[in-house]
Amino acid sequence: MRFTVTGCAGFIGSNLADRLLQKGHAVTGYDNFSTGQHEFLDEAFKSPRFQFIEGDMVDAKRLNDAVKKADFVIHLAANADVRYGAERPSKDLEQNTFATFNVLEAMRQNGVHRIAFSSTGSIYGEPEIFPTPEDCPFPIQTSLYGASKLAGEGLISAYCEAFGMQSYIFRFVSILGERYTHGHVFDFYKKLAANPNEIEVLGNGKQRKSYLYVQDCIDAILTAIDHPQAQAKINIFNLGSDEYCTVDESLGWICQRLGLNPIRHYTGGERGWVGDSPFIFLDCNRIRSLGWRPRLTIRQSVECTLDYLMKNKRLFDRR
Ligand SMILES: NC(=O)c1ccc[n+]([C@@H]2O[C@H](COP(=O)([O-])OP(=O)(O)OC[C@H]3O[C@@H](n4cnc5c(N)ncnc54)[C@H](O)[C@@H]3O)[C@@H](O)[C@H]2O)c1
Repeated sequence: MRFTVTGCAGFIGSNLADRLLQKGHAVTGYDNFSTGQHEFLDEAFKSPRFQFIEGDMVDAKRLNDAVKKADFVIHLAANADVRYGAERPSKDLEQNTFATFNVLEAMRQNGVHRIAFSSTGSIYGEPEIFPTPEDCPFPIQTSLYGASKLAGEGLISAYCEAFGMQSYIFRFVSILGERYTHGHVFDFYKKLAANPNEIEVLGNGKQRKSYLYVQDCIDAILTAIDHPQAQAKINIFNLGSDEYCTVDESLGWICQRLGLNPIRHYTGGERGWVGDSPFIFLDCNRIRSLGWRPRLTIRQSVECTLDYLMKNKRLFDRR
């Protein structure tokens, strides 16, 4: 198959592109390198089946070129950081919602019918049901990021109804692993590298979070899009693990691996920032019913992410 992967120079996108190429598919990557890294594409460029188009999601002509020969579009390009939404409110709307509209328009104009979309567990806001299933009633949105992704889901569903497309919407927990460049392990390691004796923790450290290893996330995507039991017009899957940990526990694993015992300074409160959900734990029975299982525990995922960052400290200079 020929895949187009938007956001293909990013953390998840570059790992996904490598896997698709390993499986013998052709991949057209699309990215503007706003957070993506050239070096993440080194492996992909070794394949004659890889093509790359540098462009922004607002550039309709380039996006058309990237999409026109595709059998399947995997749309990952986005502002992936929940935390700074309130500082620049238009960013999530532009990078996540409008960008998704542009992808759908490029697909419609070129007769491309299948799309996978990286949504997020943040769309559940602060739910009352744990683990949270895909059909949980939607409460109030608590972040601009979540709201922009939910709007993206809405556009995709509407395009499926109106133009005969088929979609796979994946609501991820936080993803960890090789080529990780944003999130709590990145932040904690960066702070500890600057000062190994003290560390600031956003919130009270008791936030409970679920995480998933990037290769497990990719396995789940590839399992679903090929699966005979997942051929509805709109297929929605939570992607996470069957466990969670507190921020304090995760920091403990990081410190243990680094051989440090810093004094922890908490900024306080149940939430570390606007849109920080005190408890994220998704019900993943739907994707599990297709035979998928995560390979790494949360602790193993945290540790392998830290090991990756320790070997690739140059990434800190770029973000
Ligand atoms: N990493 C996570 O924990 C996580 C969790 C839930 C959902 N997601 C979603 O998964 C997707 C991938 O996330 P990631 O962690 O790999 O993030 P990332 O920032 O590493 O990758 C995003 C990629 O998109 C590109 N991009 C951003 N805006 C663009 C634009 N306007 N035009 C062209 N390219 C653009 C960036 O350069 C980058 O390469 C995102 O949609 C994100 O919202 C990620």
